[in-house]
Amino acid sequence: MFGRLRGNALFIRPVGPFDLGRLARLHRRCFSEPWSRADLAHLLAMPGAFGLIARLFEGGLAGLDAMRGVGFAIARVVRDESELLSLGVAPPWRRRRIGSALLRAAMERAHAAGARVMYLEVAVDNLSAQELYRAHGFERVGLRPDYYERADGSRVSAHTMRCDLDHAFACFEPSRGDGLNAPTDRLS
Ligand SMILES: CC(C)(COP(=O)(O)OP(=O)(O)OC[C@H]1O[C@@H](n2cnc3c(N)ncnc32)[C@H](O)[C@@H]1OP(=O)(O)O)[C@@H](O)C(=O)NCCC(=O)NCCS
Repeated sequence: MFGRLRGNALFIRPVGPFDLGRLARLHRRCFSEPWSRADLAHLLAMPGAFGLIARLFEGGLAGLDAMRGVGFAIARVVRDESELLSLGVAPPWRRRRIGSALLRAAMERAHAAGARVMYLEVAVDNLSAQELYRAHGFERVGLRPDYYERADGSRVSAHTMRCDLDHAFACFEPSRGDGLNAPTDRLS
């Protein structure tokens, strides 16, 4: 899975055993309550769980290729339902549609595995992520009071959002470039 523009290429592929360190470093750059390698290994070992990592090819120098990890998504499929467990893009690479590409790839993979809906929780004050999810067909369906604990000990509620995957994929025209090829329009 990849897209390309002006020499940069974004590759999204499943997380493998050798990606756990990279995934933990990326998670730490995205969240104030980071998940350790052990947490991530445990999560990804759960039945139906999968991780995706986005890496950017920045060109080779003297024969050395530069593949930079820039984002990730972690999700789980249980029968015909799925849950997005985490999504993050490293700060310098935000607003380039990489989050959209990862979300889309996670939705596609969950749908291909038989999920008809995807759920997620998002902090009520995380407006940027809510906007991203809305743009991909998620709607608010519930509120979980005091769901997250912040590093300073304060608590914040979360919206539960739901996306009908059958509907989401029926509505998108592949020719519009939604999904994996769209994000690279912003890469430079
Ligand atoms: C949320 C996150 C994954 C978005 O990744 P991204 O690659 O920047 O997202 P995209 O470039 O695909 O943005 C797609 C759309 O989401 C919305 N959006 C994304 N970031 C936004 C921001 N900072 N402010 C307002 N809207 C934003 C916009 O509608 C945007 O479309 P536009 O650029 O055409 O306006 C990223 O900001 C991040 O890692 N945040 C920290 C971790 C986090 O909050 N994860 C989600 C937990 S539920």
